[in-house]
Amino acid sequence: MTRRIIIDTDPGQDDAVAILLALASPEELEILGITAVAGNVPLPLTARNARIVCELAGRRDIKVFAGREKPLERRLVTAEHVHGKTGLDGPVLPEPTMPLQSRDAVDFLIDTLRQEPSGTVTLCPLGPLTNIAAAFLRAPDVIGRVQRIVLMGGAYFEVGNITPTAEFNIFVDPEAAHVVFRSGVPLTVMPLDVTHKALVTKARNDAFRALGTPVGDAVAQMTDFFERFDREKYGSDGAPLHDPCVTAWLLRPELFSGRDINVEIETLSDLTRGMTVADWWGVTDRPANATFMGDVDADGFFALLTERLGRL
Ligand code: BDR
Ligand code: CA
Repeated sequence: MTRRIIIDTDPGQDDAVAILLALASPEELEILGITAVAGNVPLPLTARNARIVCELAGRRDIKVFAGREKPLERRLVTAEHVHGKTGLDGPVLPEPTMPLQSRDAVDFLIDTLRQEPSGTVTLCPLGPLTNIAAAFLRAPDVIGRVQRIVLMGGAYFEVGNITPTAEFNIFVDPEAAHVVFRSGVPLTVMPLDVTHKALVTKARNDAFRALGTPVGDAVAQMTDFFERFDREKYGSDGAPLHDPCVTAWLLRPELFSGRDINVEIETLSDLTRGMTVADWWGVTDRPANATFMGDVDADGFFALLTERLGRL
């Protein structure tokens, strides 16, 4: 059965690959819309980049909405040091000509969840959780209508990538993350513990390039750009494809393994703001609120990704 999804995103090279993987999989995934949020770069750029990616895939029909331009309560922190000035540095891609929808992304989220049968829409956040939390705060009636949230964010054993204790998406808007993690919606979480295993090695990037298509070339160039940061910082083998883990789980959940555990978000401490306090070892009696992933079959993940990108 086709799963109906809304992708909430701040592209970002890895967001772009996640979107392309979804666009390449129409039998399994129907994209009701893409909602842009401020994160890796400011909102005007994430809304632009989402449309560039749709056009790269020849999908000018996808509806792209712009949402919140800053976190619920804090100033925006961006990540140009990772993603470049545009957020999508690497390939040279044309400016998008498809329109940005005039409706606000948060309105779109609320209206869609109210209109569609309850329990039939999955939300896929790939950036800070501001849009999703704004929708839940404004329209609490939609919370119980969400089928599942599958998100990239947080870390436990890998701890942090923007501070010593926090992953970027959760750090940027911890209050929003708190709303989402406390919402009661079934959550599937892809933390750095998983995504730092989904590394684009040279052989894997060569496989993208060998597709010999505009999409294959663009993805190879994006990961070429994106990896310099992780190589320098972590000495890792290549760029971690964080956000595509979300779309890959929708297609092949058996590639991932994790635990149903309690995860709380630190919002008070300046030192550990945005930390995902994950009770991996079950040392509290706090109830489970998330399936927190810990491992991925990286070869299976890249085989899936390369095969699907080849369809575009
Ligand atoms: C997350 O932060 C962003 O830089 C990436 O797009 C990903 O969503 C990884 O921490
Ligand atoms: Ca992202």
